[in-house]
Amino acid sequence: MARKLCIKTYGCQMNVYDSGRMADLLAPLGYGTTDDAAEADLVILNTCHIREKAAEKVYSDVGRLRNLRNDRLAAGGAPMTIAVAGCTAQAEGAEIMRRAPAVDLVVGPQAYHRLPELIARAHRSRGEALDTDFPIDSKFDHLPLQSRVEGSAAFLTIQEGCDKFCTFCVVPYTRGAETSRPVDAVLAEARHLADLGAREITLLGQNVNAYHGAAPDDAGGNGAPWSLGRLVHALADVSGIERIRYTTSHPRDMDDELIEAHGRLPQLMPFLHLPVQSGSDRILEAMNRRHTADDYRRVIERLREARPDIALSSDFIVGFPGESEREFQMTLDLVREIGFAQAYSFKYSPRPGTPASMMADSLPEDVKADRLARIQAAIAEGQHAFNRGCVGRTLPVLFDRPGRRPGQMVGRSPYMQAVHAEVPSTMNGRILDVTIDSAHPNSLGGTLADPAEAAA
Ligand code: 5AD
Ligand code: SF4
Repeated sequence: MARKLCIKTYGCQMNVYDSGRMADLLAPLGYGTTDDAAEADLVILNTCHIREKAAEKVYSDVGRLRNLRNDRLAAGGAPMTIAVAGCTAQAEGAEIMRRAPAVDLVVGPQAYHRLPELIARAHRSRGEALDTDFPIDSKFDHLPLQSRVEGSAAFLTIQEGCDKFCTFCVVPYTRGAETSRPVDAVLAEARHLADLGAREITLLGQNVNAYHGAAPDDAGGNGAPWSLGRLVHALADVSGIERIRYTTSHPRDMDDELIEAHGRLPQLMPFLHLPVQSGSDRILEAMNRRHTADDYRRVIERLREARPDIALSSDFIVGFPGESEREFQMTLDLVREIGFAQAYSFKYSPRPGTPASMMADSLPEDVKADRLARIQAAIAEGQHAFNRGCVGRTLPVLFDRPGRRPGQMVGRSPYMQAVHAEVPSTMNGRILDVTIDSAHPNSLGGTLADPAEAAA
């Protein structure tokens, strides 16, 4: 029987990845995907819990879905199953079931392989299935392999969870302890993705550079777990994979092996998202980041020695409890000094259950808003400068989507910039050299260096 599945995804790339896997998992049960919740038999809200208001958003979305469902039932239509997945489900599963009886099932990230069973149970008795109590390690073993690669770029989860316990962050509570997939499983999935046509893979993990996956059985040596640097070397040997990225990293886990890999492996893209959060040592300490601003500067210096053209990205939180104007200025100074190719910035928001949420000295909203506007201006300025510095260079671009104008495509430079060029749509998924001739705040424009290549 044909059924329709609508997945609404919030938050990080891990959730985007998970949503794809849930769709793959449910396809054999007859679920085809739709973007229109009104016609769906099953709606999954794949939630994010990283900032405040996430839970409230879930309740308002559920309310809207409940109305859709009631309208449909009143018109004699089929029932709709409403599922809440993702980090809010993990953190507040029992509360969601209590507060939102319209929700048929709640499923945490470690239990997605049980979705078919949970859905079947929900069909029998609505409102009673709850599964966020996860047996650790179960997820990776139970999810099916990805079935499709679009535009030649794919995600590959290699690690989940976090043991860092930054005082503002819910991830260690929602995603649990750090776990890494064994090297053999990662290499097998990478080969599978290459067979499906992937040329670029992005290794995902909440704390991806803390990777310590079980060594392959035939690796020899003492069987010690592999680091990310070592894993990346092995992935660079997978035939077909031309580009490797990884995200998100912690400055403390940028070890020598990984930094050297940036210098050695052309497949490892010269781009790194390395959140620093603040430029003030006092705030970094209050955040329990366990590094100073200078430690961060030194990591960047070493990366640039290994790979001089490496482009950097970061996350910043402004308005952490007790942050003074002077301390905020130190963050602004760091933004200007490093010269980020892009960065994300957030107003601090207290997350229930985290140590920072208990800290006094929370700042007024207008101070936070003012600091956010100022840091965003500094980031935008740096990004535009970085883009302007690319004009005149020829960069390899992986084209993966149509452009706004006919005859145009958009792709990604090694530095993650969006690049527009006149390229036939038959080049989707190809890496072509592009000479950059214009820079915009959020993208580049260019011309194919060798038009004959695209005509071939
Ligand atoms: N308040 C504001 N930003 C936060 N982030 C995580 N938790 C919070 C919070 N409580 C930001 C951090 C992190 C990014 C993914 O989200 O900058 O790196
Ligand atoms: Fe959260 Fe990242 Fe800190 Fe882990 S390292 S606690 S995921 S901010």
